[in-house]
Formats: sequence, structure tokens, C-alpha cells
Amino acid sequence: MRLEVDITGKIFRNAAGEQHDVIAGVAFALDAGEVGVFVGPSGCGKSTMIRILAGLDHDFRGRVLRPAGARIGIVFQEPRLLPWRSVEENVRLVAPLADDKKLSALFEILELSAHRNHFPGELSLGLARRVALARAFAVEPDFLILDEPLASLDDALAARLREQIATLVDGRSVMTLLVTHDVEDAVRLGDRLFLLSPRPARLLAELAIPTPRRLRRDAEIAAIKSDVMRRINGDLTGRDG
Ligand SMILES: Nc1ncnc2c1ncn2[C@@H]1O[C@H](COP(=O)(O)OP(=O)(O)OP(=O)(O)O)[C@@H](O)[C@H]1O
Ligand SMILES: [Mg+2]
Repeated sequence: MRLEVDITGKIFRNAAGEQHDVIAGVAFALDAGEVGVFVGPSGCGKSTMIRILAGLDHDFRGRVLRPAGARIGIVFQEPRLLPWRSVEENVRLVAPLADDKKLSALFEILELSAHRNHFPGELSLGLARRVALARAFAVEPDFLILDEPLASLDDALAARLREQIATLVDGRSVMTLLVTHDVEDAVRLGDRLFLLSPRPARLLAELAIPTPRRLRRDAEIAAIKSDVMRRINGDLTGRDG
């Protein structure tokens, strides 16, 4: 199971025919069991790239080789739940064959058990994000795509949810792509970080973190974080591998 990506260009055109370059050049590969993280500034083209990688947008230059027959679980930047369906129905709709025990375990990990019969309108954003995560995991994906799943949550909730994502990802050998602009999340969750330039997105550097997620100590995390910050701020431009 391997994802191979070489996107050489992506352009949006508006109604007036003006061109808007969004992706300039992003090439990388990801293997089963790996968590790849896109880190880049707002508006640089991350969600656009996610749609291309998920196979939802075919209008780009380059090549994306997705593993054949891979089941894709995706969490969009907005939770996108069906408002007239309960939490449980939202999850079951995408995974009609999911067994009850597994679903209960998933709701338990994501601390959603008490909300199974609630409707999206009754949920806080943090809860809605967790339902979107439950929905993505319920299909038992081979390829998991998470677009800013922790954005705009308070620090404590984001940290808990990050733990929950790590638990779910480590529980099965899934190829994961996470989008975030939070370097802390990237360094705590990722195996490989893809640092992106401002729009149009270009891969500035690729950084592997060999220490398994669970064994990373605060000092190592802090060191990697400052390395990432330096690279993002361009101090090492021209020296990056
Ligand atoms: N359907 C579209 N038509 C035209 N322009 C678009 C479209 N979708 C996105 N864009 C533009 O492409 C650029 C990249 O958008 P995208 O949503 O991919 O950024 P992002 O990196 O995900 O940003 P954020 O971190 O804020 O979510 C933006 O300038 C955006 O306005
Ligand atoms: Mg986005």
C-alpha cells in the first residue's frame, strides 16, 4: 500500500477567466502505517491538494498514484454532517456493514457514547469534529485523510483529540495524511512532515521523525519543532534536503 504523488501544477480560473495558481510543485510518497503531515500557511493550497489526493478533483497537472482498491476515510475541514440524521446514523450511513461492537468501541474512544442519538445541530464544534472522525474511521480506511481536525478547539480538547487520533492510527496499519498549521500537532502525530510554502504550494522540505509517536519525549519534540519553525521561516533555504 503506497501513495505516490507528483503534482506539478493546479490552477483555478474565476468567472472572468483570471488564473489563480494554487499548487506549484509537490512530490512525495507515503507508505502503509505512516502518518504524513502537511504543514503550511492558511490559503497555501492544502485542502485543494487533499481533494486531489482523495480523487475528488482530477483537474491538475501531474500524477497521483493511489493504492488500488484502497478504502478512503476522509475528514473535511468542516465536519459536513447530515443535519437531519443522528450522530449514529451519520456514521452508519457511510459504514452500513460496520459491526456494532466495533462502532461502540469507536464511539467510546472518541468519547461520543452519550451523543449517539443527538443531532448535529445539538453538538459543539469539537463534538461534531469527533463525529466526523468516527465516520472516517468507521469505514476501516486504508487511506485516512484528515484536514485540520483539531482547528479552533481549545488546547485541552485538541490535546485529548490528538491522543485519540494517535490511538486510532496506531491501532491499525493505515496510511494517513494530516493537514495542520499547528507545528505541535504535526510533530506529535507525524512520521513524515511535508513543509509547504505560501500559495502556490511548493514542498519546502520533507522531514522524517524516526522515533515512534509514543516514545517522543518533550525535549525531542521541542527540538524538532524549532527545526520546523526555522525551515518554515526560511533560515535554511537552499540547504534543505
Ligand atoms: N473552488 C475554488 N475556486 C477558486 N479558487 C479556489 C477554490 N478553492 C480554493 N481556492 C483558492 O485556492 C487557494 C487555496 O485554497 P485551499 O482551501 O486549498 O487553502 P488551504 O491551504 O486549505 O487554506 P486553510 O489553511 O485556510 O484551510 C485559496 O487562495 C483559495 O481562495
Ligand atoms: Mg484548508
